[in-house]
Amino acid sequence: MPEPDAKITDGVLRSGTFGDIYFSAENGLAETRHVFIDGTNLENRIKSHAHLVIAETGFGTGLNFLAVLDLLEKSGSDCRIDYISFEAYPLDATTAFEARKPFAELHNNSAQLKEVWPERWACAHHRLFLQDRVHLHVHFSDALTAMKQLDFKADVWFLDGFSPSKNTELWSEELFLQIARLSAQNATISSFSVAALVKEGLTKAGFKIEKKKGFGKKREMLTARYNTISAAPRNLSSEKNVIIIGAGIAGASIAHGLRATNIPHIILEAADTIASGSSGNPAGLQTPQLMAAPHPSMQMSLACFSYARQLALTQNVVLDKGIISLHHPEKQGMRQKKMAGQEWPEDLVKAASAHQLTQNANLELQTEGFIQSAGQLIDPSKLTYQLLDKSEVKTGITITALSKKQGIWELRTSNGSIHTATDIVLAMGSALPQFLEQFSLPSLKLQVTSGQLSFLPSNTKLSTLECSLQYGGYVTPMIEGIQALGASFDLSGTMQLTKKAHLHNISLLPTELQKLLPDSLELTGRVSRRLASQDRGPLIGDWHDTIHLFSALGSRGLTNAPLLGLVLARKIANRPSGLDRDIMRIIDPHRFSIRATRTNYRR
Ligand SMILES: Cc1cc2nc3c(=O)[nH]c(=O)nc-3n(C[C@H](O)[C@H](O)[C@H](O)COP(=O)(O)OP(=O)(O)OC[C@H]3O[C@@H](n4cnc5c(N)ncnc54)[C@H](O)[C@@H]3O)c2cc1C
Ligand SMILES: C[S@@+](CC[C@H](N)C(=O)[O-])C[C@H]1O[C@@H](n2cnc3c(N)ncnc32)[C@H](O)[C@@H]1O
Repeated sequence: MPEPDAKITDGVLRSGTFGDIYFSAENGLAETRHVFIDGTNLENRIKSHAHLVIAETGFGTGLNFLAVLDLLEKSGSDCRIDYISFEAYPLDATTAFEARKPFAELHNNSAQLKEVWPERWACAHHRLFLQDRVHLHVHFSDALTAMKQLDFKADVWFLDGFSPSKNTELWSEELFLQIARLSAQNATISSFSVAALVKEGLTKAGFKIEKKKGFGKKREMLTARYNTISAAPRNLSSEKNVIIIGAGIAGASIAHGLRATNIPHIILEAADTIASGSSGNPAGLQTPQLMAAPHPSMQMSLACFSYARQLALTQNVVLDKGIISLHHPEKQGMRQKKMAGQEWPEDLVKAASAHQLTQNANLELQTEGFIQSAGQLIDPSKLTYQLLDKSEVKTGITITALSKKQGIWELRTSNGSIHTATDIVLAMGSALPQFLEQFSLPSLKLQVTSGQLSFLPSNTKLSTLECSLQYGGYVTPMIEGIQALGASFDLSGTMQLTKKAHLHNISLLPTELQKLLPDSLELTGRVSRRLASQDRGPLIGDWHDTIHLFSALGSRGLTNAPLLGLVLARKIANRPSGLDRDIMRIIDPHRFSIRATRTNYRR
């Protein structure tokens, strides 16, 4: 992403790229309150709405966002807010924080924003604030490009580009048309600029504009209202409540998402404990799936990684930071070579020689590869428990009957209890195919594999490894007495721990590391199952009559589940999903039949 060339001079942040200031040199916060908060009548709207969507062009330092958090806190209102912003030249966390420092009354939230400030990766970044009541979506992208891919209905817009003469692309007619498309009926807009192109652009797009008194020395500012009949009224979901089946990372992530959208839910788990399936492994990697050519699945993976990584940090479940990804001569050599020649953010991918990798790993490595300093090793089981901490979970429950009466699902269970809900989420990992069959629900092609982790004893030479390595398989450093070696891929779906799988895990290791292990080795391990779809992508969304799938997380559940949990919860609540249309398409459980229909139609 392009850097903004921004510096604080005379107490105010200036952009060298645009030759303009980020906010008024007089008092940025007072300007925000006058132009954007008062200009859109936000205080009254926060007090009279259960949910608002606020959108902004130009996230900059995040000052406008913090002013909204401050307003919400002081208002005492229960309103929930989606704050959707766009930024093409992201500042770094420290510069943005320093620029906000004069506004001492915002300090607490400003410090939190600094803590969770997104990395400079070109994707959607999601963060939750104020006990999850405010959902920040920042799209690190050109605003117009990102808007074209999104579907939401904003109640309020803050137009806050640099001055129109210096930042034409943020005030273009095409952008105003997108803003109109993305506006709810009666949406209000505020802009510090009354330039002719802003007035004309907004009017042409269907807004009714009005001039108001500007801030400080500025004589005028602009407000506008969107009340054309073509604007769809926002249709929030009526009362919903959800039964989640399965308490692995998928169930925990959807519960986390439903809490953030204020939807009551309960989790029913067949086993006697939470995280009894693959989410119960003692360690797992969070890494994005990177590709040499742009693809929605990489965009999804980056957005998921940005959120999951931050969540793991704030939940204190990170066991180790940084991952080395060794080049794999046969399998991925071409992709890795291409990527090594491309420009990547250094914390995502940094090409390194075998010598450099040896130093990082503290063990001799003979292949070159990538250092992925943002990647991390986490404790999946602890994360699952913690995400379920504030939700009601019932363990040891088997569902015996499923029926629907007058729009409400009724589930009968093995212990005689009956649970009712408007919606059901199937988050049962590899048990999904049986469940669909047992209750005569529409089926789909799925692959169940078992995966065995091998745990190495503490006395091998591999125990001096200082960071996680990926190479087709993976090996972790020894942490809290556990060094994991993974992972087998067995199509039989066996749940037996086998010597064969241990040997397979060892055989995946680079030969120079295999030599560090003694010939006879006592290994323990853990077996669990994965579920994958036909195209290996996750299945997230409506499946059949308010039954939703949160499934097929394959080998990437620890990276993908947390954000996808927010996304599905938001779909159930009829709120903006926060992901591009192309991404929503590749996670839609119905994509296979949609693709098949299209192919047949073309024939
Ligand atoms: C060996 C191995 C290593 C892995 N390493 C990584 C890694 O490094 N990084 C990564 O991102 N991913 C990794 N994965 C994948 C990751 O673990 C999974 O994607 C993720 O755990 C799937 O979560 P889940 O909640 O969908 O399934 P699970 O964790 O299996 O949870 C499903 C839950 O549903 C319950 N359940 C099943 N049927 C019913 C029913 N009928 N009623 C009620 N409850 C039911 C189960 O008891 C279980 O608790 C690995 C997987 C394996 C097998
Ligand atoms: C005046 S500043 C915004 C100040 C910000 N609202 C705040 O609270 O600090 C304008 C912002 O728009 C961003 N910007 C400029 N062109 C853009 C584009 N095409 N797409 C998205 N953001 C853009 C700039 O990088 C800058 O951060």
